[in-house]
Order: sequence, then structure tokens, then C-alpha cells
Amino acid sequence: MNIGFELIPGRTVSRIGLGTMRMADRPDQRRGGTAPVWRSPADRPDLIRFVREAVDLGVDHVDTADAYALGAGEELIGEALVDMPDVAIATKIGNVRPSASEWVALGHPAYLRQQLELSHRRLRRERLDLVYLHRIDDAYPLEDQLGVLAEARAAGTVGGIGISLVDVDTFERARRVTAIDAVQNPFSVGERSSSDLVQATADAETAFVAFFPLAMGDAGQDERVTAVSSKRGADPSQVALAWLLAQGSHVLPIPGTTTLAHLRSNLGALELDLSDEELAVLANG
Ligand SMILES: NC(=O)c1ccc[n+]([C@@H]2O[C@H](COP(=O)([O-])OP(=O)(O)OC[C@H]3O[C@@H](n4cnc5c(N)ncnc54)[C@H](OP(=O)(O)O)[C@@H]3O)[C@@H](O)[C@H]2O)c1
Repeated sequence: MNIGFELIPGRTVSRIGLGTMRMADRPDQRRGGTAPVWRSPADRPDLIRFVREAVDLGVDHVDTADAYALGAGEELIGEALVDMPDVAIATKIGNVRPSASEWVALGHPAYLRQQLELSHRRLRRERLDLVYLHRIDDAYPLEDQLGVLAEARAAGTVGGIGISLVDVDTFERARRVTAIDAVQNPFSVGERSSSDLVQATADAETAFVAFFPLAMGDAGQDERVTAVSSKRGADPSQVALAWLLAQGSHVLPIPGTTTLAHLRSNLGALELDLSDEELAVLANG
């Protein structure tokens, strides 16, 4: 199942990447929907070691954003992967964090240009593999926001362009502005509101990067998942990820974890082929 997917031109990655949003704050603040993702991590050296070990285990697609820990997330990834140019780093710009509980879209083109420059510095890369508009800001034309990324791609400083938390109409509008390499939306066994976008991206041969693939750590609360995992002798998270992998060869989950045991388990989903019967159990309703 793990033959990889060409995330950006010339860069094929393993189907399961690593989400790093929760590499912030103190370890006890990282779980659930109210995790602040605001301060630099209290255990930074441990996390740097963890990211490097993740690469040893086969991770070659790491997801971050300029907004995670107010830039400290990118700094951490930049330091961890400084001698690993073959690991694809995807980052996102276009969200500001005026407080620990707020995420506000900001798409002023001058601000986006500034954030691209900061991403280069913090990630320590002259060429950013993949940059998403974290949110599209309705206060500015989509053409202008994507235009910043398209200019950078034309200049060779950005490899691929993505958009995040969008619907099919916005995906189609964005594609008329510039080539879109990846779309990043929430998608999991229990959250299928982007199913039409999964189909639209499949038709366009665009990567669909699934965020919150483990329902923020609650994959094991879904009875369909536990019905399959207990029969199969697999972890619930593995079943949740295997279901995502079965939704199309362009679907790339980016589970977030900060523990090696969870990471090993999650990567084990690459070897877990679900039968038609198991997929029927996991079907909606
Ligand atoms: N584009 C966007 O707007 C957007 C929004 C949100 C997130 N994202 C991206 O998506 C990534 C994933 O999202 P997420 O981390 O919030 O949610 P998630 O991947 O659905 O779940 C992460 C949670 O699951 C736990 N976990 C991981 N593997 C596990 C396992 N095998 N068994 C049990 N628990 C496990 C983690 O805790 P441990 O650390 O203890 O393993 C963590 O608390 C983020 O890191 C970020 O890169 C993007």
C-alpha cells in the first residue's frame, strides 16, 4: 500500500506524514481541541530528538505552520531537519495568533510575503517544499493571496502550493488562479464532511492531506473503529489511518504525535490492508 504519492513535482513521499502542531507548550497541555499551541515547547531538545528519530523510522513529510507556537514550531523543525534536505517540510502562512485561543486569517499580500521570508529563515531552507495558505482571508482577493505563492514558485523559492480548510468551489476557483499541489482539510472515520473534496482532488490528481486524522486522539472512541481493531488485533489509531489510506492513493494523513510508541504504531498502518468486510463496518451510519 505504501508506494508513496508525488506531493509536489519530483518529490514522492510516504503516505503517512507527521503533524507537529502539538509540539508546543507543556506536555500536559497538548491534548484535545483546546490545546493552546501558543508557547515554545517546554521539552524542546526531546522533541528535536523525536523528529530526527521519526525520520529514521521512515517519516519524510513533516507538517508545520508559521502560527504554531508563534514561529517556534518552524524553528524547532528547522533545527531538527537542518541536515536532512530530503525530508519534505510543508508549512502554512496566513493565520495570526493574537492570543492563545484565537486563530485569525490574515491575507494581506505584504504580510504573506513577510511570513514567507520568516519561514525561510526559521526552517533554514532557501526553497520551501510546500506552502499552504493556512486560511483564505475573504478581505483580500484570492488571486492576490495565491499570487504571492505563485510568484515565489516562479522564482524557485517555493516548490508547491497548497490551500487549507476549503470547499470544492474554492478549490476549483484556486485552480483557475494557479496550480494547486495539495489541499489540507479535516478528514477521518468520524469526520467526513470533506468527502466531496476528496473526490475532487482525486479527479485533479492533487494531494488531499488529512488533518485531525485521529480525531485529535479520540480515534479509539469510535465504535466502528474499535469493532475492527479488536477483531484484527490492531491499535484503533492504525485502523483509523488504514481507513484513510483506503480512501484514495492521493489521501495523505498527517497524524500528530510526540511519542515514539504512537509513531511506530501509526506508521504500522501502512501495512494494514482493510478487507471489504472491515471497510463496510467502518462505513458511515
Ligand atoms: N490545516 C489546518 O488548519 C490544521 C488544523 C489542525 C491540525 N493540522 C495539522 O494536522 C496535524 C494532526 O492534527 P492533530 O495532531 O491536532 O490531531 P490528530 O493527529 O488527529 O491527533 C493527535 C493526538 O492523537 C494522539 N495520538 C497520536 N497517535 C496516537 C496513537 N497511536 N494512539 C493514541 N493516541 C495517539 C496524540 O497524542 P501523543 O502525542 O501522546 O501521541 C495527539 O494528542 C497537526 O499536527 C497539524 O500539522 C492542520
